Amino acid sequence: MRKKIIAGNWKMNKNLSESIALVEELNILLNKQSLNCEVIVCPPFTSLLSLAEKIKKTDIKLGAQNMYFESDGAFTGEISADMILSVGCEYVILGHSERREIFKETDELINKKIKQALSKGLKPIFCVGEKLEQREANITEDIVRGQIEKGLEGISENDMKNIIIAYEPVWAIGTGKTATPAQAEEVHVFIRNLIGKLYSTAIAEDIVIQYGGSVKPDNAKELLSQKNIDGALVGGACLKADSFMGIILGV
Ligand code: 13P
Repeated sequence: MRKKIIAGNWKMNKNLSESIALVEELNILLNKQSLNCEVIVCPPFTSLLSLAEKIKKTDIKLGAQNMYFESDGAFTGEISADMILSVGCEYVILGHSERREIFKETDELINKKIKQALSKGLKPIFCVGEKLEQREANITEDIVRGQIEKGLEGISENDMKNIIIAYEPVWAIGTGKTATPAQAEEVHVFIRNLIGKLYSTAIAEDIVIQYGGSVKPDNAKELLSQKNIDGALVGGACLKADSFMGIILGV
């Protein structure tokens, strides 16, 4: 049985005091519940250290939203795997569509980041997904296949045990348009079969594939009840404790 994992991607939201307030609220809500899933929060870099302290006695895990593939050196403005590990991160989101689109990250760059994260003991949440025009042109599977094959190039079967894949159709991100459970499940099945072909049936069966794109408390339960949807990567709805909690309780 795969465990479900709900991760909140805060994106570029919440300064330090706002971050602390949100996690304190979340701690109170989570404390009263027995959960069926793992919970990860991915705040901005500037809040990681303080939040690590706040979640120390809870089951909440910490993730960063990005990192660079080099270990150290003259890379102004970048953050290394060691740096995010040193402030308590276990996870790192890589290949998010906003990084691909706005910051022009390529599959090759994402592949280097994934390899570096794994070699340092971080668990990548590797994002893939098609744009609206690609879905309309019926090339969703080609796009997702390309992103996965290139992103995972050279990654061993053993390392695959530490990767989460997040399927996030770009047209569903921040738009309020969610993929229907059936549309999402179809791509999740495709991804799982592809992992089976690239690695093994055992790896395919075990890998956690999250869905992301306008996940809200009122649609989470149905999405998460699909056989191949193993969790959610939540944007907007994770910025308020009660709506993030609503999604977590939908598992
Ligand atoms: P929204 O939930 O705001 O659509 O964002 C999804 C996302 O990009 C998570 O990484």
